[in-house]
Amino acid sequence: MPTTTGHAATPPAAPLHAAIIMDGNGRWAKKRALPRILGHRAGVQALRRTVEAAPDCGVGVLTVYGFSTENWRRPETEVSELMGLLKTFVDNDLEQLAREGVKVRILGRREGLKPDIVKIIERAESRTAENSRFLLQVAFNYGGQADIVDAARRFAEAVERGEARAADLDEGVLERGLSTAGVPHPDLIVRTSGERRLSNFLLWECAYAELIFQDVLWPDYGPEHLKAAVAEFNKRERRYGGTTVDDVYAAG
Ligand code: FPP
Repeated sequence: MPTTTGHAATPPAAPLHAAIIMDGNGRWAKKRALPRILGHRAGVQALRRTVEAAPDCGVGVLTVYGFSTENWRRPETEVSELMGLLKTFVDNDLEQLAREGVKVRILGRREGLKPDIVKIIERAESRTAENSRFLLQVAFNYGGQADIVDAARRFAEAVERGEARAADLDEGVLERGLSTAGVPHPDLIVRTSGERRLSNFLLWECAYAELIFQDVLWPDYGPEHLKAAVAEFNKRERRYGGTTVDDVYAAG
C-alpha cells in the first residue's frame, strides 16, 4: 500500500481517533428563546460529557472544533464569549482532566489570539504534557486550509535557509508541519446538527476518515450519541483506495 505518511493505510487500531464538529449551539439556544451564548455554554457541558464517555466508547483521541479561523466573522460579543469559554473550560476542568490522565493539545494558529488566551493554552498543554491515557485536541483559531498553508510556509522557509530542496517536499514533510503532526489521522469525523459539511476542519487529515452526520444539536450530545457514531463507523468498510479491507491489510 503506497503511502508516504504512514498514516493513511494504518489499520484502525483501537482506540479510535474521533473528531467532532460541535454544531448547533445557536439553534439549540434559539429553540429555547435563549441568547446564543447559553447554547455555547451548554455546548461546554456536552463536551465534558463526551470526553468522559469517550474511553468507554473505544475512543482514545478526541479532536473537537472549538473556534475556526472563520468564526472571527461573528459579532464581536460572540467572539469574546467563545474566547471566554476556552478560559472557563481550562479554569474549571483542567485539574480534573490532568488527574484523569488526559493530555490536552490545542491545534491552530496562536498568532491573532490575545496574550491571555495564549497563556491559557500554554498552561493547559504544559500541565497535561506528561499524560498519555487519553488525548483531547481542541482546534481553536484553526482552519484546515490555514494549517496546510502554515506547513507549506515552514517548508518554504527551510528551502530559503538552504536546509531543504523543493524536490524534498512530499506528504510526510508537509504532514510534519501541520499543527496535528504526530497524531494518527481521525478514523471518524462527526458533525452534529444535521449539517453535512466539513467547514474547513481537518482537510488534510480527513483523507480516509469516515464521515458521520448526526441530527442531534451539540448541546444535547452525550455518551449515547458517541456510542452510536462509533457503531456506525464499525459498520463501514474502509478500503484506503484498495479493494477490500483484507487486501489493504495484506499489503501492509
Ligand atoms: C457551532 O455552533 C459551535 C461553535 C462555533 C463553537 C463550539 C464551541 C463550543 C461547543 C464550546 C466549547 C468550546 C471550547 C473551546 C471549550 P453554532 O454557533 O454555529 O450553532 P448554529 O449553527 O446552530 O448557529
